[in-house]
Order: sequence, then structure tokens, then C-alpha cells
Amino acid sequence: MRHFLRDDDLSPDELLEVLDLADRLKAERAAGRFTARPLEGPRAVAVLFDKSSTRTRVSFSVGIAELGGYPLVLDAGSSQLGRGESIEDTTRVLDRQVAAIVWRTAGQERIAAMAAVSRVPVVNALTDEFHPCQLLADLQTVRERHGKLAGLTLSYLGDGANNMAHSYLLAGANAGLHVRIGTPEGYLPDPGVVARAAARAAETGGSVAVGHDAAAAAEGADVLATDTWISMGQEAEATERAAPFVPFVVDGTQLARANPGAVVLHCLPAYRGKEITAEVIDGPQSAVWDEAENRLHAQKALLTWLLEKS
Ligand code: CP
Ligand code: NVA
Repeated sequence: MRHFLRDDDLSPDELLEVLDLADRLKAERAAGRFTARPLEGPRAVAVLFDKSSTRTRVSFSVGIAELGGYPLVLDAGSSQLGRGESIEDTTRVLDRQVAAIVWRTAGQERIAAMAAVSRVPVVNALTDEFHPCQLLADLQTVRERHGKLAGLTLSYLGDGANNMAHSYLLAGANAGLHVRIGTPEGYLPDPGVVARAAARAAETGGSVAVGHDAAAAAEGADVLATDTWISMGQEAEATERAAPFVPFVVDGTQLARANPGAVVLHCLPAYRGKEITAEVIDGPQSAVWDEAENRLHAQKALLTWLLEKS
């Protein structure tokens, strides 16, 4: 049984298999062909949300349907999970009826608890710690724009302790990227994740670097990425988070420090005038709409791959 709970659940070779399949499914869909039908029947996939979502909800729903299946989308507020039914009991009910479970929740330990008892693949659709499905789409987008992954420099400016920073570290290292995190003091990534990413990077020829100098991080980047400064669940910290992040805004000045062909990524939703300027996110180097679309192709590939292995 294979699950996808964090970016390093795929080996470097497996990551490339999934990305190659994502490219193939994207090209076939553009030609009006849908050859991957692992959910034909239809078999259902449960897609559970303990937090808000637009892109993840849409891309999994559409993707599961395009794979021949039925997306069963449940919100915490409308299921017994939201009223205290245990994760384990919920999983044991679901896994007799669905082919896979996709879950957006808070703590990583919650999705780990689900995977520990599930007899079907479990996919992390964002936790406080990781957002691995987003990184599949990001890497697909970078490879489309640059024609390769290994050896490129990806710089992320913003909250170094959030799910996107952790996933950039792990998935970037997995892909052989040189990952740089530029973040304010007090917002460093989990040291265990940095160590794990460094170990993966040593295998793939990539590297990881974490620092507090935004300009140094942006210098010579092939990919410049950012994310909201206030993740879901951190709304009460909005005031204390405002000032420290200002030097890490992705604006024209930072983009000018990157390489001329640098691509700008943002997982969205974006807050123009906060972590990124309108000039940059709406400018010619932004790839954010391809990045959002690639959630569909990358997750179809991931589900197909996981179902094949299970
Ligand atoms: N990027 C992303 O996961 O978006 P949603 O929160 O809208 O799903
Ligand atoms: N870091 C953000 C990502 C949203 C897709 C959050 O967790 O809210």
C-alpha cells in the first residue's frame, strides 16, 4: 500500500515517473483523449476538507471524474469527523467503499493516523506541515518552462515554517534543485525537514540553504516562489506577522535579482500588495495560472500511479 503524505514519500525516480505521466495526461486531455481510467466503474474517491479550498477541491473533483471515478467531497462541518468521530473509525468506514482517500487537515499526525489504518491509498491535500500535491504541480510547471529540473535554483521568500516552505525543501531536493529559503528570524523551517531535504539533495545533486537575507536568496534564481504570510489557522497572528515579512515581498526589485528567464510561482490564493506585488504576479514571468491548472494533471497522474501500486 502506497500513500502520499509528504513529498519524500516518492523517491526521486518515482517523482519523475509521476511528472512524466502528468505531462502525458495533460497532452492527451488537450487532444480530447482520456486514456487513463483507473477509476472506471465508477469507483469513488473520498475528498475530505477540514479547511477551505478552491483549487484542491476543483482539481481533485474534475480529475477523479476524468479518471472514470466519482468524487465524494465531504466537509468537516457536514460529516461526523467534525463532531468528534475518530479518524480511525472514519477511515474504516470509508476504505470499504472508496478507492482512495484525499484529506486536507491540520496536523500531519492526523493524516498519518489515517494512513496507519487505511486499506486504500491516502493522499495529503495539505496539512499544516506539507502541501505535496501542490509541489507536483509546481515541478511540472517549472519543467514545462525551463525544460528540466535538476540543477535549477528555486528561491522561496516568505514563511519558512509553513507547509509550502517544507514541501519546497523536500520536493525540490527530490528533484535535484538547489532550494533556497529566505525567511524572517523566528520563522525557520523544521530542522528535521531541512535535514531530510539535505540528505535527499545529497543523493540527487541538489542542495538546500536557509537564511534571512531576501536579496541573497533571490540572486540568480531560476524560480522565485512565495506564499501567503498568514496560512489557514494563523489568522489570529495577522498583526504580529505583518512587519517581519515586509523585506521578503516578491516585487520587481527581487525579481530583477533573479535570472532573466526566472519563473514566478505562487500556490494561490495570493494577496497582492502583501507577499507579492500585482506587477509580478500579473507580469510576464508569472506562471501561476499554469501552476494552478497543473494541479489537475499532476493529481490525476498521482492517483493513477498510486492505484497501480496498490
Ligand atoms: N493552492 C491551493 O491548495 O489552493 P486551495 O486552498 O484553493 O485548494
Ligand atoms: N500556506 C497556505 C497554503 C494555501 C494553499 C495555507 O496553509 O493556508
